Amino acid sequence: MKKIGIGLVGFGTVGTGVVRILQENKGVIEDRLGASIVLRKIADLDITTDRGVKVDRKILTTDAGELIDDPDISILIELIGGYDAAKEITLKAIGKGKHVVTANKALLAVHGDDIFGEAHSRGVDIGFEASVGGGIPVIRSIKEGLVANHIKVIFGILNGTSNYILSEMTSKGKEFGDVLKAAQNKGYAEADPTFDIEGIDTAHKLAILLSLAYGIKVDLGDIYVEGISKITPLDIEFAKELGYTIKLLAIAKEEGRRIEARVHPTLLPNCHLLSMVNEAYNAIFIDGDAVGSTMFYGKGAGMMPTASAVISDVLEICRNIMKGSSRRVPLLSFQHEKIRAQKIKNMSDVTSRYYLRFSAIDKPGVLSKISGILGNLDISISSVIQKGREVEGTVPIFMVTYEAREANIQKALKEIDDSPITLDNTVLIRIEEGGGNFGG
Ligand code: HSE
Repeated sequence: MKKIGIGLVGFGTVGTGVVRILQENKGVIEDRLGASIVLRKIADLDITTDRGVKVDRKILTTDAGELIDDPDISILIELIGGYDAAKEITLKAIGKGKHVVTANKALLAVHGDDIFGEAHSRGVDIGFEASVGGGIPVIRSIKEGLVANHIKVIFGILNGTSNYILSEMTSKGKEFGDVLKAAQNKGYAEADPTFDIEGIDTAHKLAILLSLAYGIKVDLGDIYVEGISKITPLDIEFAKELGYTIKLLAIAKEEGRRIEARVHPTLLPNCHLLSMVNEAYNAIFIDGDAVGSTMFYGKGAGMMPTASAVISDVLEICRNIMKGSSRRVPLLSFQHEKIRAQKIKNMSDVTSRYYLRFSAIDKPGVLSKISGILGNLDISISSVIQKGREVEGTVPIFMVTYEAREANIQKALKEIDDSPITLDNTVLIRIEEGGGNFGG
């Protein structure tokens, strides 16, 4: 049987999963591939800790350069995460004509231009299925299964840590800080958990999906990003009462040639399929002009799901190698020369419905002042709830608006928050009602 040599840089959680799958599923992998995958070397700074998998100590090294220089390694798996070292290793491996598989969404979102450009000119493959949605084969689905479509809408729950936190807050009424610790203990969170809770990890993944869906290079700074750290049990409770669930969503929409891309906590109707995605699960709802609405669901983080995606890329590249080809499917779904830089629609031009919570002073006429300011800016109110006289001299007023322009809502909230009728900044959460033709 033909043998194909691979190397692994980064023997952490996902790296260990890769070794386990290669060992435990060796038979089925070989039956499908018709070749044997040989893990020739593993590089990590720590080569002494027992990972609970059997590995020949002779293949362990602390020097990633050994893998890059090994002519018997055709595919290098990069699982060290982060930017600088990962970029250097990836570019050096590409420079040596090796194919690269990576789960590093931050690297691709920030340095994708250099990496894909280099891979294109060297004629090698880059596999990155594990970079978005963990074990969910969403990248391959956009590149192949949905290749006939214009993608109209993408809604993604792309961060397991945030989804776990919001789910626990929703189902158990827990406070944000308590649940974050539990998520970290479960090993879902990034090394810097602010990447998870402040929406940065989700934005990295959205940038990758935007390239695949629209053939565009996106400046990360153009994507509006807001995390979940300010979401309170009070807002979750009232959203529920109004018929909504709060999720951290990555949103992409195409209207004509204008593309909207944003990441923020979002109220979704309770009956939307995405509202039912709980714990560390991820899901990606994609609406295509031909296929209609589709949804992809599965584990978005963790050892074995992420390793499953990594191995799927290794196999795809092995199949190319065995047929004497590479990049049968373009790296970013579109032909390299068709990929263009594109500005994302300015957030102030976005329209949405809004959930607002005012910390209003308890005096007659306050509600009419608030609705007057909103009305002057063309913001129409759909419903209002005011609950008991509590919370340090203020009463919470919950409001849902009809569609309004972001610029107008921000202007209105500034005026309201600068006036003495509220004592705390107003809470704003955007609402999405469906995004396709099911679930909303
Ligand atoms: N920190 C990420 C998450 C890991 O929580 O989803 C997977 O990218």
